[in-house]
Amino acid sequence: MDHAENELLTRVGPGTAAGETLRKYWLPVGLSTEINSDAPKLVRWLGEDLLLFRDEIGRVGLTEPSCPHRGASLDYGWIEAGGIRCCYHGWVFDVNGRCLEQPGEPPDSSFKDKIRLKAYPVRELGGLLWAYLGSGQPPELPNYHFLVRDDGERRFSGYVRECNYMQQLENALDPVHATILHGRPVHGFPAAPEWMETPDFNVTATDSMAYYVARRKGPESGTEWHREVAYVPPIMVVHHGGSLPGDSVAEMVDVAWRMPIDDYNTRTFTLKCLPGAMVKRGKVEKQARPKPPPLMRGTRRQWDMATINGQDNAAQVSQGPIVDRTREHLGHSDRGVIQVRKLWQSAIERSLQGEDPPNLIRNPTQNHLVHVDVVERLVKSGELRNHVPNIVYVSS
Ligand code: FES
Ligand SMILES: [Fe+2]
Repeated sequence: MDHAENELLTRVGPGTAAGETLRKYWLPVGLSTEINSDAPKLVRWLGEDLLLFRDEIGRVGLTEPSCPHRGASLDYGWIEAGGIRCCYHGWVFDVNGRCLEQPGEPPDSSFKDKIRLKAYPVRELGGLLWAYLGSGQPPELPNYHFLVRDDGERRFSGYVRECNYMQQLENALDPVHATILHGRPVHGFPAAPEWMETPDFNVTATDSMAYYVARRKGPESGTEWHREVAYVPPIMVVHHGGSLPGDSVAEMVDVAWRMPIDDYNTRTFTLKCLPGAMVKRGKVEKQARPKPPPLMRGTRRQWDMATINGQDNAAQVSQGPIVDRTREHLGHSDRGVIQVRKLWQSAIERSLQGEDPPNLIRNPTQNHLVHVDVVERLVKSGELRNHVPNIVYVSS
């Protein structure tokens, strides 16, 4: 990869190729639970500083953070009067950026009608806040089945990692790293069995996603363990539950969005979607085991190598804020990484030519229980023999 390609894939600010492509999609900008009407919050997405707030009737706004009057930061403001009131002279703005009040101006003044706070559309779906940071008509907000099904439970978590989003997307289709980085015993605790040997894996790319299927021999003859992970542009990674035959988490869908804060920082939103039957059976709780003590390692920067998150931080943050891909030596084992790059690069190039990149839904009739069908596709083709069927639809 040359320097220009590396720049093309990694820069996300306004006016950049990847940044403008990302701005064509609805993107996750927060959890529904993290913003309430008490406190507006400064956030940063795709290199833009923004204000996130919820008004008195529950609507969420994502706006520029500085008051158009004389520039005070609106995160000191109060939620009232149909929007947010600036702390300095009390101008009020609603979630659409309209100026509703200017207490210091004459009562008959129409000055407020000329004032606009830049605002992006926000919607709530499945426990996440979604924003459209582009211009023009937004596409449909995808009704992924794991966001809209109502027969179970959604559990969110996440973290911020100090490196470019591409390093984390590449990691999704890199099953070899799991065996090495996460597969060692730590303080005598063995790693998860599925990570203890390097799998045989195939990588497949379609127009709309790239995925691997990794296989290892199962505990009994004729059985196999399998793990499927899909990268779905622009920033979503989907893993369908368990990989062991009869695994208790086989019905779970594990989703991660690698959302760029800016070129050098990424917030991951993770969702575990647990279908209702699993929740009722109570089979999803992991057996409690003692937490290993921290194993801090590193010279310039220390990470806890006894945790998955610390291990991934050590590997991905130490690559550099944006890894120099002109200096790599990619091998056969990097074929998943290569497919992630190719798929996203072709999406950006399509977008630069004025076409829609993949996974944009414009037609509302195609936006019904959208799902990422890796497992279903493999079961139908007979490639997965021991899979516990996990696609249960709830019609709406
Ligand atoms: S700076 Fe916000 S109202 Fe004056
Ligand atoms: Fe990892």
